Amino acid sequence: MIRAWEINKNNCYMEQTQSVASQKTNARRAEMIENGRYSYQATLATAQKVNWRIEDIIGGDKRLDFSKPFMPESLARVEPLDFLRADEKRTLNQIRGAAYLGIFGLVEEFILPFVLDHARPQLRGDDYRVRALLQFAGEEAKHIHLFKRFREEFERGFGHDCAVIGPPEVIAQAVLAHDPLAVALTILHIEWMTQRHYLDSVKDDQSLDPQFKSLLKHHWMEEAQHAKLDTLMVEALAKGRSAREIEAAVEEYLEIGGLIDAGLKQQVGFDLDAFTRATGRKLNEEEKDQFGRAQLQANRWTYLGSAMTHERVLATLGSLSPAARKRVEEVAPAFC
Ligand SMILES: [Fe+2]
Ligand SMILES: [Fe+2]
Repeated sequence: MIRAWEINKNNCYMEQTQSVASQKTNARRAEMIENGRYSYQATLATAQKVNWRIEDIIGGDKRLDFSKPFMPESLARVEPLDFLRADEKRTLNQIRGAAYLGIFGLVEEFILPFVLDHARPQLRGDDYRVRALLQFAGEEAKHIHLFKRFREEFERGFGHDCAVIGPPEVIAQAVLAHDPLAVALTILHIEWMTQRHYLDSVKDDQSLDPQFKSLLKHHWMEEAQHAKLDTLMVEALAKGRSAREIEAAVEEYLEIGGLIDAGLKQQVGFDLDAFTRATGRKLNEEEKDQFGRAQLQANRWTYLGSAMTHERVLATLGSLSPAARKRVEEVAPAFC
């Protein structure tokens, strides 16, 4: 970091003092804006501080440990499947981890073009806005790469194919065909979801593979800024719309949720196939049924319910329209 005295070393003492004072004032102002309402300036400053490199997280001696679970039990929900042995539960947990990598990689592929499209029309406006949104897009491009790198490591160590829903470009096209406000709400949902996954379920779980936990931690660190920027995007896209138009966009957000839900049903089938291949265990019809129901609900909570009940998602919805918040609150229990 360059200090004020280094920048101003050829100037007089008074100028240096004023520069330090004005930097402090700017920082304070940014914090104040941050406390009342998110700001592009404060979010950009935090993003630059927490920025990390993929090489520091995976590769070399940083390897996945397949003797440990990858996902917290509150998301994996393998324990209720009491017909499975402990090692089979761990294998299923790791398959859910592989799906998490694939599904996050996939959603990031529609977030990236959406953020770029949102930034593009106002490149000459607020400089902090432009830089914060481009930082956001750059981080999502890095996350796509990060999830791919973890998938490669996973496949190398696991030794069996684990299919994931897709292809990403087809899902991106289907999502991006919706009203931009509905897409921004979906992205808001995803950003707060990652916050909840890490803080509520991962952070204090000491049983998880440290490498997978590190992935979730580093993703959470950058997603914290995305959640704030997406709140600002939602506010910008909702500006000037009538209550009826807001509610129509929220219906489209729920339609995108339906699309994700259909994908999750398919993913449960893929996970069962991967489980059968990896363990050689053939489940009977009753066990398959139990597996399918429990895992669908686990996936629904992971990717839908944990966001639809998130207080920040609900607060943003409520600020747009109390009826929209109520609508989501009524639908959410089906995904918990
Ligand atoms: Fe991300
Ligand atoms: Fe993000």
